Amino acid sequence: MTERIVVVGAALLDAGRLLAARRSAPPELAGRWELPGGKVEEGEAPEAALMRELREELGVEAETVERVPGEWPLRPPYVLQVWTARLCPGSAAPEPLQDHDALRWLTPTEIWDVDWLDQDVPAVRKTLPKLTTGAH
Ligand code: CDP
Repeated sequence: MTERIVVVGAALLDAGRLLAARRSAPPELAGRWELPGGKVEEGEAPEAALMRELREELGVEAETVERVPGEWPLRPPYVLQVWTARLCPGSAAPEPLQDHDALRWLTPTEIWDVDWLDQDVPAVRKTLPKLTTGAH
């Protein structure tokens, strides 16, 4: 059986905007924008991993809303899965604590203004209708 490790990404939505995070490392990814997230650890549920990553990387308390259908291959053995998420009441505002050096809340018209990681583009495209319908 092929080993497969899930990387979870968050489409964090707030007031009709999507959070994009600019990677500061590694050098080949630095400067590109992504949905914040990271690797699911052994024995960890993907949604729990996402909440942990958002806490570590952005200092926020967030909850997942729903899975964005699909799964996108990264460098083997990694595959990307994405959930929409929202900030919990009382959460701090996100700040770039590790892995990132800038954050932007993008409105639907701004969504393609940033240079997304190639592998995140399909998930961002699928998230777009959720911004315009005001679901968050
Ligand atoms: O934080 P952790 O070390 O768990 O994971 P990461 O380094 O943030 O992400 C693991 C891999 O997934 C990296 O190679 C990232 O390029 C990739 N990734 C991605 O392609 N898209 C994302 N939205 C998040 C991570």
